[in-house]
Amino acid sequence: MKMWSGRFRQQLDPGFERWQRSFDFDQRLLHYDLEASRAHARALKEVGILTSGELISILQGLEKIGEHAAAPAFLEDDEAEDVHHFVEKQLVTLIGDVGYKLHSGRSRNEQIATDFRLYVRTSIDHLHSDLAEWVGVLLDRAEQAGIAAMPAYTHLQRAEPVLVSHWLLAYVEMFLRDADRLADCRNRVNLCPLGSGAVAGATLPLDRRAMASDLGFDAPTANSVDATSDRDFALEFVSALSLLALHLSRWAEEMILFSSQEFGFVRLPEAYSTGSSAMPQKKNPDLLELTRGKTARIIGDVTALLVAMKGLPLAYNKDLQETQEPLFNAAETAMGLLPLVTGWMKAVDFNYERMQEAAQFGFMNAWAAATYLVQRGVPFRLAHEQIGKAVQLCLEKDCELQDLSVEDLRRLNPLFDTDFYDCLKLEFVLAIHDVPGGTAPARVRQAIATARQKIGSMHEEAHAHS
Ligand code: ARG
Repeated sequence: MKMWSGRFRQQLDPGFERWQRSFDFDQRLLHYDLEASRAHARALKEVGILTSGELISILQGLEKIGEHAAAPAFLEDDEAEDVHHFVEKQLVTLIGDVGYKLHSGRSRNEQIATDFRLYVRTSIDHLHSDLAEWVGVLLDRAEQAGIAAMPAYTHLQRAEPVLVSHWLLAYVEMFLRDADRLADCRNRVNLCPLGSGAVAGATLPLDRRAMASDLGFDAPTANSVDATSDRDFALEFVSALSLLALHLSRWAEEMILFSSQEFGFVRLPEAYSTGSSAMPQKKNPDLLELTRGKTARIIGDVTALLVAMKGLPLAYNKDLQETQEPLFNAAETAMGLLPLVTGWMKAVDFNYERMQEAAQFGFMNAWAAATYLVQRGVPFRLAHEQIGKAVQLCLEKDCELQDLSVEDLRRLNPLFDTDFYDCLKLEFVLAIHDVPGGTAPARVRQAIATARQKIGSMHEEAHAHS
């Protein structure tokens, strides 16, 4: 039986009927719909709509539906309009007409809003703990890199040397922010729409606080019109995922680049690469490329959600059904990615020798060289100019700054002395970046310790929500 057929005289057009259903995708919400239905049933009992016996039978029925759902065939249903209809149908099949009492004083509008929030909350918790693993592995790799150095690039041109660990810590920061954003989003997700009815609030004096706490929400939502039509929480969540994916795509792109023969910094792990059907020598970075590619979907999902919500009048509109698939797609894509990139990062082999070698060439000590003059009172703009001239001379001679003679240097500025050569050494260049957040080894060690602590609290948080 349909949930709304009374006022209709005609049958629905069969094509339209099939087309407007959401059960194919909203069956993902089944367990949340059962949970929310249990909370609603308890509230109905409190206001005298259900007897204790009826409550027990409804709760048992809902429990059974959850158990049956383990078999995929159970979910094959050509009549269910959506997950809410499916639950009602199954409940009535199991316990008879008393099952129809469950829908007293509620609307599918509040149900979908509630189920959707529960789905997002669970996804956030899942992603938060996956992110803790991922960031943990990035940090392990940073620690393992020790004092190995590499070029840091600006404009994709060699700029200054940094510790490999410092470079990896840049990713740690990005993903810690992503975890933070998700945690922040969770605060606004964790409010309970139950009792909001279709738009104006429940028609029975249900205890909204009790239902909210039953479902682990912090509080009931404040306004029924908003609660039944708000999808900000979905948008915030998918926006946070789009940034997470964007970070993953930047990471992937850089690893692809660094694994090319031209760079040779990264040796691709075979377990996560594929070959070519044509060129026998190939080892391709498929995991990285798909990571980069899947980012497009998530950005598409957030765009779809924004456009679906734009200009939508209050309150519930069926358009809102279209917010489900982009959100599921984004959540599932992100959840699929994290364990794989984590595995990749554990398995990858860095060519530290090659990185270290690259860190010593290409005049990446030029700024440090100018600093030598600045320390001796030369205004920076002049020092910059003089070292620029020194680089010019090197380019002519096809050598590096450390290969210039003191005489050559003194022609540019008489303040140059033999101690200048120490300032050009890689260790020295790294060491003078001695500020919080800089690449001096002691600063990087501190940064690693701080990140380790943050990851520790992420694990604790994940534990508290599990
Ligand atoms: N399947 C619907 C959705 O996802 C559930 C709410 C239906 N409400 C309604 N008034 N038709 O939005």
